[in-house]
Amino acid sequence: MNPILSLFSILYFTSQNFFAWIFGPSRSPSRSFNKGLPKRKIAIIGAGLTGVSSAAHCIGHGFEVQIFEARGKEKGLGGIWSRVNSTSALQIHSIMYRFHPTVQYKHAYPTQHEIRDQIVDLWKRYDLEERTEFGTPVTSVKKAKSSGKWVINNHPEKYGSFDGVIAAVGVCGDPKMPTLPDQDQFDGTICHSSNLDGKDIKGKKALIIGGGASAIEALEFAVASGASEIDVLSRSDKWIIPRNILVQSLLAMNIWGEEISLSWLPEWLLRKFFYRDLEDIAPESGLFTTTPMANSDLFNLIREGKARWLRGDIDSVKKSGILFNHRSGDTPKGGPGYEKLVEGDIIIMATGFKRPTLSFLPRIHSKIITLPGLHLSICANNSTYVNAIGTVGNIHIGIYTRFLLMFLTDPLTNPTEERMKTWIDFTRWMKQGAPPRAFDFFTYTELIYWFVFLVLVNPFRWKWALFILFGVGQTLPLEIVREESAFRERLQNQRDN
Ligand SMILES: Cc1cc2nc3c(=O)[nH]c(=O)nc-3n(C[C@H](O)[C@H](O)[C@H](O)COP(=O)(O)OP(=O)(O)OC[C@H]3O[C@@H](n4cnc5c(N)ncnc54)[C@H](O)[C@@H]3O)c2cc1C
Ligand SMILES: NC(=O)c1ccc[n+]([C@@H]2O[C@H](COP(=O)([O-])OP(=O)(O)OC[C@H]3O[C@@H](n4cnc5c(N)ncnc54)[C@H](OP(=O)(O)O)[C@@H]3O)[C@@H](O)[C@H]2O)c1
Repeated sequence: MNPILSLFSILYFTSQNFFAWIFGPSRSPSRSFNKGLPKRKIAIIGAGLTGVSSAAHCIGHGFEVQIFEARGKEKGLGGIWSRVNSTSALQIHSIMYRFHPTVQYKHAYPTQHEIRDQIVDLWKRYDLEERTEFGTPVTSVKKAKSSGKWVINNHPEKYGSFDGVIAAVGVCGDPKMPTLPDQDQFDGTICHSSNLDGKDIKGKKALIIGGGASAIEALEFAVASGASEIDVLSRSDKWIIPRNILVQSLLAMNIWGEEISLSWLPEWLLRKFFYRDLEDIAPESGLFTTTPMANSDLFNLIREGKARWLRGDIDSVKKSGILFNHRSGDTPKGGPGYEKLVEGDIIIMATGFKRPTLSFLPRIHSKIITLPGLHLSICANNSTYVNAIGTVGNIHIGIYTRFLLMFLTDPLTNPTEERMKTWIDFTRWMKQGAPPRAFDFFTYTELIYWFVFLVLVNPFRWKWALFILFGVGQTLPLEIVREESAFRERLQNQRDN
């Protein structure tokens, strides 16, 4: 490894304990912490890394939680990371996948086992075992008229009632397995890209359908397994960026979270210095419109003839392969091209995952957004985005959770419904030039903009600023909230007398 990168990795691994000590919320907050304030309870839907991390944050800040997970413990705890291949790994550096401050990675690009183990460890560390209901799909979240609290699946007696709700259902549900035309003609096997463990494809011809991150993982699996020929059949192009922490961080620094007048620059640099002779498979669309894939080996594998990347549309499946309409980059999907039979022994469907539904949430706005929406006590954490530059498992999980905790704890921070609507409409207006709609695509630095327009514009929220950003100074805002509540009570008493 490059000596600078080695040094960076050593510093990173050794500093994890330090950061856990500073930013890791206490596992058992002192009893006096919440004194004078009612103990609030949050329902968390999903036991993937977002649900487990959100729950750990809530516990650490003196709240009670109950996690509801649709699947059993084996496949549910750890979410999607308990349901993918053991060879799956992060495409981005793990420094950008620190889904909780106490996570302790041993590798810069950890694989499935290491990530799942980190989720399970976190779950145990914060005593979430006794607070998780497995095999319990949430189908409704409604407000009880009598108490004003949230009720899960219309069953307050069984599950209790809640002051707040965090929906952490993720974006990767069951594998998507579209039926290909005439696929029953095929002589070989057809499987999903998330189900490759134990598949023996040595010496076989592999056909990979799809052009997303899973297609790249399947390609790497096929190369490592010694497949004789590998063809990726992709009907649309996505950007591929280097697996390099510096490049990824720079790209994530687009504060507007959309195509800007300077977007041509990284696009041009990528085409000229990264794609080079393979510029033809670079997308026509802008870099800040879809989630890019991070991989530095793919182009070399193609150049070395170990794999082919073909753009086009599937006509039909034949006995020995796929009849494929191979087209050029500027020809749209379904447009004219050259038809040919691409032979294969196994078809790997890297066609993605079904999106879990959020329809159990009350209809809060025409758009469900990540931050607490019009119902200030509901936060859809990591389950509303469509595309992003950044990662799902990072510090923003804590930031979004703490926004919710602030709204639940401090009535003075709560905006009126009208103000919240204005905020949503304002964000839409700010991002009106974005090819995807305002809340469909985001970058990390966009969080700064959200922070400014949610915290800094409102003096009643200033006392929460450090807490929201870093989770530190927990007792400070609570002291002030207590003082403010007492002051309001005194005022009320004076008025009543
Ligand atoms: C192979 C693979 C590699 C990936 N690599 C990266 C990467 O490098 N970087 C990155 O940012 N992202 C990556 N992702 C995306 C990945 O989805 C996220 O990083 C992250 O794991 C999502 O975690 P989550 O907890 O939000 O969702 P999930 O892990 O999907 O967990 C959601 C949980 O909610 C449960 N659930 C759903 N609906 C309900 C309901 N109604 N009631 C109760 N429970 C429910 C589900 O059963 C599931 O267990 C990858 C995805 C895959 C498939
Ligand atoms: N290590 C990693 O970082 C990693 C690995 C895997 C997955 N992930 C993440 O997991 C999520 C899912 O990724 P994914 O690659 O599994 O899915 P994806 O991004 O949704 O890509 C699916 C691909 O399959 C194609 N496709 C779908 N249906 C098709 C059909 N009927 N015929 C032909 N092609 C079809 C799609 O084409 P169209 O685009 O034209 O629809 C697309 O190219 C993403 O968020 C991704 O970032 C990350």
